[in-house]
Amino acid sequence: MIRRSHYCQEVRDPLVGQTVTLCGWVNRRRDHGGVIFVDLRDRSGLVQVVFNPEYQSEAHLIAHELRSEFVLRVEGKVAWRPAETENPNLPTGRVEVYAHAVTLLNSSLPIPFQLDDPEVGENARLLYRFLDFRRPEMQRNLQFRHRVTQYVRRFLDEAGFLEIETPMLTRSTPEGARDYLVPSRVSPGQFYALPQSPQLFKQLLMMGGFDRYFQIARCFRDEDLRADRQPEFTQIDLEMSFPESDSVMQITESLVLQLLHDLKQVTLPAPIQRMTYNEAMERYGRDVPDLRIPLELCDVTGLMGQSGVQVFARMANLSGPRGERGMVKALRVPDGVRLSRKQIDDYTSFVADYGAKGLAWIKINGPWDQDGWQSPIVKFLSDSDKQTLEQTVGLQQNDIVFFCADREKVVNESLGRLRVKIGRDLNLSDGRDFALLWVTDFPLLEWDAEAKRMSAVHHPFTAPHADDMPLLMQAEQPDDPRLLEVRAQAYDLVLNGTEVGGGSIRIHQPDMQRRMLSLLRIGPEEAEEKFGFLLKALEYGAPPHGGLALGLDRFVAILLGVESIRDVIAFPKTQKAACPLTQAPSKVDPLQLRDLHLHSTFRPESKTES
Ligand code: AMO
Ligand code: AMP
Repeated sequence: MIRRSHYCQEVRDPLVGQTVTLCGWVNRRRDHGGVIFVDLRDRSGLVQVVFNPEYQSEAHLIAHELRSEFVLRVEGKVAWRPAETENPNLPTGRVEVYAHAVTLLNSSLPIPFQLDDPEVGENARLLYRFLDFRRPEMQRNLQFRHRVTQYVRRFLDEAGFLEIETPMLTRSTPEGARDYLVPSRVSPGQFYALPQSPQLFKQLLMMGGFDRYFQIARCFRDEDLRADRQPEFTQIDLEMSFPESDSVMQITESLVLQLLHDLKQVTLPAPIQRMTYNEAMERYGRDVPDLRIPLELCDVTGLMGQSGVQVFARMANLSGPRGERGMVKALRVPDGVRLSRKQIDDYTSFVADYGAKGLAWIKINGPWDQDGWQSPIVKFLSDSDKQTLEQTVGLQQNDIVFFCADREKVVNESLGRLRVKIGRDLNLSDGRDFALLWVTDFPLLEWDAEAKRMSAVHHPFTAPHADDMPLLMQAEQPDDPRLLEVRAQAYDLVLNGTEVGGGSIRIHQPDMQRRMLSLLRIGPEEAEEKFGFLLKALEYGAPPHGGLALGLDRFVAILLGVESIRDVIAFPKTQKAACPLTQAPSKVDPLQLRDLHLHSTFRPESKTES
């Protein structure tokens, strides 16, 4: 019979003199010529167990055989450690347990990596995930994630939200990624899609009168993976009836701020700062600015239009719709004169990855009229150019200023990312651990150059701003560039430069929804086929509604300060969307394929799929 009286970490001073029963793993065993010390570990932490042959010879004999990761049940008496052997680094470091009985519950093969080795490759960690879980970091990460989800459930329940599950085997719910498909056995040739989000179902729940819904929902998206993207991930998904953007933002804000306070003991100022999309793009080049980095972009297109730097002048005079027009922006870095030629070259190749064709720079070693400006382009600037530039950008002694001239999209993406890179490289931060920001008033539509049509910036169910409705209605062609100016009632929550949540007020009028789909070049037939159920439901008294989804994995990872969301997901996938532990995805039995009426045309030797 195994009955544990305490977790290891609970064995503290007040228990001295008492007998405890512990269950756990041998973290380390040390034989001090006679006396054997075992650090016993369970999910709570460690405690030292002492096996003394004079105290209990039978237990001591078993202790001789113990190796790392053997599983034990130990009964013993808690005692003070001798003063000189106290371990101040361990919460249980003032005491130890004198074992008088031990049961070996299981042995272990020698483990393939040391649990405290920080250099273990991720593949090995994922292959032996069950061992990786025994590391204190993984215990901490998944236990914290549990506390977050429990907190969210309690908070939203108290705020009147109902937890309702929505299907995994469903029709495509588009969020802009590829679907994962599941073949149907009983309907030959037909497929379910795994949901990219519960979006359409939560809207239907509002139409059914549930008023407030939430779900801790698994979502599936077949897209290129990165440190903050997994093919299956979890959202804290919520939806409300009769809201304005403010209502959704306020409830989310209370949840996030109170959670940070209660679980991280961090008090952030309320309300969370808000910034429009346009302002974020202008000042930071990206819609996910990390506001801890005190660097900003400065638009110098106007003054460069006349300058002698030819690429600048050419770009400054290039007109086009939003995103495509030419632009020149500057990024001023205080104290940047210390950057070496090599660093500047590295930054030039860094921005090249985002399409920039060059990265001009000026080092401000002294006043420009005393030849204090050092730069490959300074010879093309007139005195008046320099004067205006100095004033517009606010240049000061010891600054370096970088320039990018290109199409608006490229300039913003390049300098926006360079801003963060330089901020990190030079340790420029305002010192905050967490910086939260709402980005509001996103554009409703963007131009998809490849597909040659508009696409929805958030998703096709997002409502436009009431003020911009005329613009939307006036557009006669679905590629009218004026459509790019229409703002959406959409908002994103940004934490430390990462999008941790996004949502919107939805379209609740069927005509408006049809118009939106037609602007996305989804014709009436296709609309009916793909979204007929939604369009129908909108005809039967759909209430105004809106909501948001927080990316749980990203949120938890940032709160814990870990680099990758894989460290806060129990069984994540690799970059190639595979699971080393279970070896998914895998081949299946030909009989299974036959039942599903499937036939794979993939031929490994040709390495192509047709
Ligand atoms: P959206 O697509 O913005 O909105 O997703 C919401 C949040 O989910 C997280 N997220 C991801 N996390 C990990 N891996 C991924 N592949 C991944 N993709 C997204 C992000 C993101 O902010 N239905 C809408 C929400 C709504 O409008 O209510 C939606 O899914 O943190
Ligand atoms: P070049 O005349 O091409 O040798 O370029 C002179 C300087 O301008 C170099 O520092 C280039 O990196 C930079 N440069 C070239 N094209 C651009 C551009 N589109 N935007 C910003 N800088 C550029």
